[in-house]
Amino acid sequence: MTTPDPTYARRGNIAPFHVMQVMGAARRREEAGHEILHLEVGQPSTSAPAAVIAAAHAALENDRLGYTGALGLPELRDRISRWYRDRYGLLIPADRIAVTTGASGSCVLSFLALWDPGANVGVIEPGYPCYRNDLEAFGINVVRIPVDAATGFRPTTADLDAAGPLDGLVLASPNNPTGTVLSQQHLAPLLKWCAAGGTQVIVDEIYHGLVFDQPAPSALEFDQEVLVFNSFSKYFSMTGWRLGWVVAPEALVPAIERLAQNLTIAPPTLSQLAGLAAFDSLEECEANVGRYRRNRDSLLGALRQSGFSDIAPADGAFYVWVDISHTGKTASALCKEWLETLNLAVTPGIDFDRERGESFVRLSIAGSEHDIVEAGERIKAWAAKDTAAAGSNEAR
Ligand SMILES: Cc1ncc(COP(=O)(O)O)c(C=O)c1O
Repeated sequence: MTTPDPTYARRGNIAPFHVMQVMGAARRREEAGHEILHLEVGQPSTSAPAAVIAAAHAALENDRLGYTGALGLPELRDRISRWYRDRYGLLIPADRIAVTTGASGSCVLSFLALWDPGANVGVIEPGYPCYRNDLEAFGINVVRIPVDAATGFRPTTADLDAAGPLDGLVLASPNNPTGTVLSQQHLAPLLKWCAAGGTQVIVDEIYHGLVFDQPAPSALEFDQEVLVFNSFSKYFSMTGWRLGWVVAPEALVPAIERLAQNLTIAPPTLSQLAGLAAFDSLEECEANVGRYRRNRDSLLGALRQSGFSDIAPADGAFYVWVDISHTGKTASALCKEWLETLNLAVTPGIDFDRERGESFVRLSIAGSEHDIVEAGERIKAWAAKDTAAAGSNEAR
């Protein structure tokens, strides 16, 4: 836990992103000579598609790599517009698209452009922690909207009614950490509720393309006033390139542009030039999706065999969100135990759900098949031992 420092601004006292701290603990153990299976972070084990790497080499040789415009390279904005046409059948003009420094940059720009300090913004829990933490840093009130297994971890309009008047709402589909996809029947009523009450919606679509059983519609198919963001990090396997985008309502673009000019000048030029090639590398990306699907299936099997039966949908994204309350341990204690005894790094749920997070852990399926199968074997061996130990305690 960090101790608030009264010398500096209060906004720096937001919660840490605990995943990064778990990564640090795993790395320290690795440096001490242990071989760690990394299921703590949603990061592909593959590098960027080959054509992206080739385009980066060419750009290094041939391009001056100066600043681009604040909203990004015109060619890339056009290419993203074409992506919406080809993938979703949507006509999104390039001038509604802003290239950003990853979906993280999209969060900052869109939160700042949409809401003033004191606004009330609904955030689904369990959900990606940086929405809540960024909003709090900006002085925006976070209205927690808890969802659970009863609705497949999907928010409903009844949840929105219960949350009270909202200036804004942040949704994600597929969701991190539950893997829940919002299909048309779930998404359309939420958007209608928000349009009727003047609630501005953001939908984080960073895990689009990473779906295993059913397609995930874009919110833009139902409503052109929502703000949608996406990223090259996940489907295109480009986490470290720090590249993403926003599709904004037309009237919001000038505000986003002014903020981007002042906050970052421009997204990274090398990544933008290379990222152009990502959209022509779909065969590689789809091969990765096949691997994630096999990883999900094998991990779900291993978890169920190990006595973990309350598991969120895992229809998409990189994660399996597991209720561990029957173990009698907190998620923090279980994650520590697995790191120290199984050399297996997974994340306690506290990042994603402040109130119920100690009852859940999140495991990532983004790694290699070998690592996921091996993780499953270690969990099964742990469960067999744990059950035997519990049995011998009862016998005593
Ligand atoms: C739901 C969600 N949104 C946004 C991000 C930020 O991604 P990036 O900044 O790498 O594009 C992540 C990263 O894990 C995420 O899981």
